[in-house]
Amino acid sequence: MHNAGFAALGLNWCYVACEVDPKNLRAAIAGARAMGFAGINLTVPHKLLALDMVDALDASAKKWGAVNTIHFNEHGATGFNTDADAIITSLREDLKAGLPGAKVLLLGAGGAGRTAALKLASEGIAELFLVNRTPSKAEEIAGEIKKQFPSVKVSTGYPKGSVDLVLNATSLGLKPGDVSPLDQKQFTLAQTRAVYDMIYRPAETPLLQSARDAGCKTANGLGMLLYQGAKAFEIWTGRAAPIEVMRRALVENIYGPAKS
Ligand code: ATR
Repeated sequence: MHNAGFAALGLNWCYVACEVDPKNLRAAIAGARAMGFAGINLTVPHKLLALDMVDALDASAKKWGAVNTIHFNEHGATGFNTDADAIITSLREDLKAGLPGAKVLLLGAGGAGRTAALKLASEGIAELFLVNRTPSKAEEIAGEIKKQFPSVKVSTGYPKGSVDLVLNATSLGLKPGDVSPLDQKQFTLAQTRAVYDMIYRPAETPLLQSARDAGCKTANGLGMLLYQGAKAFEIWTGRAAPIEVMRRALVENIYGPAKS
């Protein structure tokens, strides 16, 4: 998506993927800077490690405690986080989700789940239910939210009543044969209006399929991937990201050429 974006703006730039062993991350960041890179994107497990490998942290990286984007300039390396905003942009665009006052059931309390939980709380949702295989991780996030966002009613475990949105932030659904992240003995899809799955490959996880069958609005995580990338693009280039060009490239790359 980045290369398509650069081409659309006539920039003679190139985005490459490199696999870096965590023990070499500091050297890799310094090396990229020495070679005149404009910036870097980082993924798991580098997002946390990079926090103390940059010269400055943008407010976004400080707030979410993770760096997924680095920008190099004459002052050094600055770390940003473009993931959190992307979740909200995608929820609004793909599900037309009105978040203030909403009730949300969030599945998963890993890195992505934690960022989503805190970001949703900061958007003024009314109530958040956190469910995770390892309950202590959900409880830890609930504690953080109680401290930082006392007006949000937060609890762990499935809600008894209905919610506006179920958000899957677990990795269940990535592999064929994965069990559903939602325990339908404890919570049925009739109890929600919409389901968002952060997984984008496969395009429709079994969870999204059953949600669609149950008449829920559904969306996958492609929009999240797109918007975190578009924001990084803007940080590096200082230009507005050509969103539709980038979306098309992403869809083609992930799902194959569009059938005519
Ligand atoms: P990410 O950064 O993508 O969030 P992660 O931090 O490894 O990755 O988190 C993965 C999430 O998927 C966690 O919520 C994890 O549950 P645990 O906290 O109990 O590990 C969840 N997950 C992964 N495999 C799972 C499984 N087989 N059953 C239930 N939950 C699972």
